[in-house]
Amino acid sequence: MSDSTRSPLVRVEPLGTSFEAPDSLTILEAAGFANLRLPRSCRNGTCRTCLCKMTTGRVRYTIEWPGLSREEKTEGYILPCVAIAETDVVIEAPEAVELPPR
Ligand code: FES
Repeated sequence: MSDSTRSPLVRVEPLGTSFEAPDSLTILEAAGFANLRLPRSCRNGTCRTCLCKMTTGRVRYTIEWPGLSREEKTEGYILPCVAIAETDVVIEAPEAVELPPR
């Protein structure tokens, strides 16, 4: 059973850092609030700069047609700039960088 009183947790590998990803934020935005920089550019689901692999969890998208092929979706690739975590999620983002606290 998932605990519905808290936001889903996103863990970023290989850093091992986790942050809460509330329903109101995309994973990319939530990472930003957690001082974590993920690769990104367009932030609207077209450029695929942010493409990364989700090894665990489920997301939904803020746009109807995120720039992912069916095969990529099947293999677990997501676009964090337009993805909202529906469950706890683990992503592989080797280029993620932890920023100093603001
Ligand atoms: S930043 Fe362009 S697709 Fe995510």
